[in-house]
Amino acid sequence: MEAHKRFKFSSLEDLQTELNKMGIDFPLVEDTNALKQPLRIGKNIIPNRMVIHPMEGCDGDKEGRPGELTSRRYKRFAEGGAGLLWFEATAVVEEGKANPRQLLITQNTLKDLAALLQEAINAAVNKNGSDRKPYTVLQLTHSGRYSKPVSKPQPIIAATNPYLDGKNPAPKQIITDAQLEQLEDRYVAAAAMAAEIGFDAVDIKSCHKYLISELFAAHTREGAYGGSFENRTRFLLNIIDKIRTKLSDDIDVAVRMNAYDGIPYPYGWGVDEGDCHRVDPSEPVRLVKLLGERGVNLANISSGNPYYNPHIGRPYDFGPYVPKENQLYAVERMLKIARDIQKAVPEMAIVATGFSWLREYGAACAAGGIRDGWFQLAGFGRQSFAYPNFAEDIIQTGTLERKKCCIACGKCTELMRLNSVTGCVIQDAEVYRPIYKKLTQGQPSLVGKEIADHV
Ligand SMILES: Cc1cc2nc3c(=O)[nH]c(=O)nc-3n(C[C@H](O)[C@H](O)[C@H](O)COP(=O)(O)O)c2cc1C
Repeated sequence: MEAHKRFKFSSLEDLQTELNKMGIDFPLVEDTNALKQPLRIGKNIIPNRMVIHPMEGCDGDKEGRPGELTSRRYKRFAEGGAGLLWFEATAVVEEGKANPRQLLITQNTLKDLAALLQEAINAAVNKNGSDRKPYTVLQLTHSGRYSKPVSKPQPIIAATNPYLDGKNPAPKQIITDAQLEQLEDRYVAAAAMAAEIGFDAVDIKSCHKYLISELFAAHTREGAYGGSFENRTRFLLNIIDKIRTKLSDDIDVAVRMNAYDGIPYPYGWGVDEGDCHRVDPSEPVRLVKLLGERGVNLANISSGNPYYNPHIGRPYDFGPYVPKENQLYAVERMLKIARDIQKAVPEMAIVATGFSWLREYGAACAAGGIRDGWFQLAGFGRQSFAYPNFAEDIIQTGTLERKKCCIACGKCTELMRLNSVTGCVIQDAEVYRPIYKKLTQGQPSLVGKEIADHV
C-alpha cells in the first residue's frame, strides 16, 4: 500500500497517472460545467452543485450567539457563490455543546441566529443576484462523548467504547432512555425555531461519533436505544417522525451521517465485522432508505472521527499523527461510500465529502462524480475556510487557483483543539495567523511525527 505523502501533483494528468498506478478509479474531468447546474430539492432550487460543509469557527459568545467572526465567516461563504450553505453544528441543549463557544439554539439566541441567516442571504443575493439565493441548512447537534460546554470535557455517552474511552479520561455519564426521549423533543423544538427564522432545512447531525453517530454503533447498550439495528437508529428516526408530525412541511429535514467510522466492530458503524479497514455499507444503506421513506431528500455523507482517526474524514498533509495509508485512499473511500449510498436512494440528493485535500483538482473530482452519477452535490470543508469564493471562481473560470487553496496543513483543527476560535491560518492570515502564532509560539502542537498504530 502506498504510504502517506505530501501533495505533489502539478497537473490533472499527473494526478490521473498516480491514480492509475494506485488502482484508484474515481472520475476526474476537466470540464467542470456539471458543478454549475441547478438542482431541484422539494419546493426549492439549489442554484449550483457546490456546498459549503458545516464548519465550526468556535467563535460564538458564552450564551451560544454568533460573534463577529461568525458573521464575517458566513458573509464570506455567502458571497462566495456556493449553492448550499450548510450552517455549522449548533447545539440543541447547553450540556451538548462541544466547546464553550459553540452556537446554541434557544429562545435567547434565536434573534441573533435569524440575523446571521438574513445577513448571509442578503450578502449572497446582493453579490450574485436573486436567482443565486443559496439553500440553507442548520446543523443541529448534541456532542455526546465530546461535550465540553465549559472549559472541561463533560462526556455524555451512549455506550462505553474501548477505542474511544481512554482518549477522553473525564468521568462519563451514560445517557438514559428517558433522557434520550426528552432530548428528542429538544431537537423538535430546535427544528421549530429554525423553521420560524427561515432556514430551508435542519440537519439532525449523525456523524463523527457525536451522540447520534455513537448510538448507531451502540450494539452493547441495553434497552430501547441499543442492540438491534431498529434500536440503534430509533433516536434519529423518532426525531424525524416527531418533526414531521409537528411541523409538517414547514421545513425540510436533512441528515449529515457517518457511513463509515473506521473503528472496529461492534464499536464502529459501517465497518466490516472482521476488518474495520473495510467498509460494510449495508446498515448505512438500510438507514438511508428509511430516511427516504420519511421524506428526507438531502443527506451529506461523512466518515471517521476527528478525535480518534481524523485522517479518514479529513485527509491531511500534517496532523496529529502520520497515518499508514496514502491520502488518496481516504479520498477514494469517501467518494465510493457516497456513490454506494446515492445508488441506493437515487431520488435523494447526496452530498459527497473529500475534495479539499485535492487542492484545485477537487473541482475536477467533484464535477466527475456528478457527471457519473456518484453523487449530486459536492461539499467543501477546509477549502471553504481557505478559499470562500471557490464556487464563484469555478463558475467564472471553470477552475480553481492553486495559490488560494487549502493546503491541508491541519492548523484549523489545531486551533480548535487549543480551545481557540478557528479559521484558515494560511489563506486568511490577517485574522488567524496572529492567533495561531500567539498560541503555539511558532511550535505547532499537533503535528505528529509518529506513524499511528491504532488506526
Ligand atoms: C475546523 C473544522 C470545523 C468543522 N466543523 C464541523 C461541523 O460543525 N459539522 C460537521 O458536520 N463537520 C465539521 N467539520 C468537518 C467538515 O465539515 C468536513 O467534513 C471535513 O473537513 C472534511 O472535508 P474537507 O476535506 O473538504 O475539509 C469541521 C472540520 C474542521 C476542520
